[in-house]
Amino acid sequence: MSFFGELYLRSTLPFLSEAVTAREAEYLARAFADVPGPAPIVDLGCGHGRHASRLNASGPLAGRIIGLELDALSLSMRRPGFPAVQGDLRALPFRPASLAGAYAWYSTLFAFTDEEHVHILREVARVLRPGGRLVFQTVPYERLAESPGAAFQQTLPDGSVLEEQSRFDPVTGRDEGRRTLTLPTGRRLTASYSIRYYPLAELRRLLESTGFSIAWVHGGLEGESPARQSTDLIVGAGLQHG
Ligand SMILES: C[S@@+](CC[C@H](N)C(=O)[O-])C[C@H]1O[C@@H](n2cnc3c(N)ncnc32)[C@H](O)[C@@H]1O
Repeated sequence: MSFFGELYLRSTLPFLSEAVTAREAEYLARAFADVPGPAPIVDLGCGHGRHASRLNASGPLAGRIIGLELDALSLSMRRPGFPAVQGDLRALPFRPASLAGAYAWYSTLFAFTDEEHVHILREVARVLRPGGRLVFQTVPYERLAESPGAAFQQTLPDGSVLEEQSRFDPVTGRDEGRRTLTLPTGRRLTASYSIRYYPLAELRRLLESTGFSIAWVHGGLEGESPARQSTDLIVGAGLQHG
């Protein structure tokens, strides 16, 4: 089965606090506040829309957010108040230079092969208009490298049992894991994932080779500089001129 969809939603939603989502949405509102409208800003891999619904409802980006999501179940569960299209990051269903911005949270852009990451970033560059901005969040490579192995088991509020094992390989930059959720009915959902974490210098090269230049790098939601103890790597990038 696919990692995203029912397994991801059932195993992740119970851990997503409204307070953290609110802080992430506030970060995004600030990150795009100076990008002129009215062209839309797309939430790439919007999931059930926890960021898009807030941003589209009020604040500086109200009415400008659209969601892009491949998974039909995530779309069917989405929060109210924002338009969304079903589509693939690898073939964005938008016209060239039609969007003012794009953002992606939770390493969404890097859950594919390295070749696909290049392709996805080129797709994002294609649909952004001149002066357009891309903002994405992932986890610093160094953080994975410091604690490369993880294994846990936990019972969720609905009685499901979540088990996960993962291992980060610093040579490939990939965190490979397997997640299993056993529902109270005994039904088992299980899937593997492979997420790429790029050292910042490599990420910079990747962005520059796909049409972007980095405007800022933050280590957290308050806009702090990246540091050894940073839990986030948040990048703001602009389309290169010409
Ligand atoms: C890590 S989740 C993040 C969801 C949401 N942005 C959030 O922060 O809660 C990644 C999302 O990307 C979606 N996704 C995975 N592959 C995709 C693809 N090829 N095209 C579009 N969306 C995709 C998944 O279904 C999932 O909703």
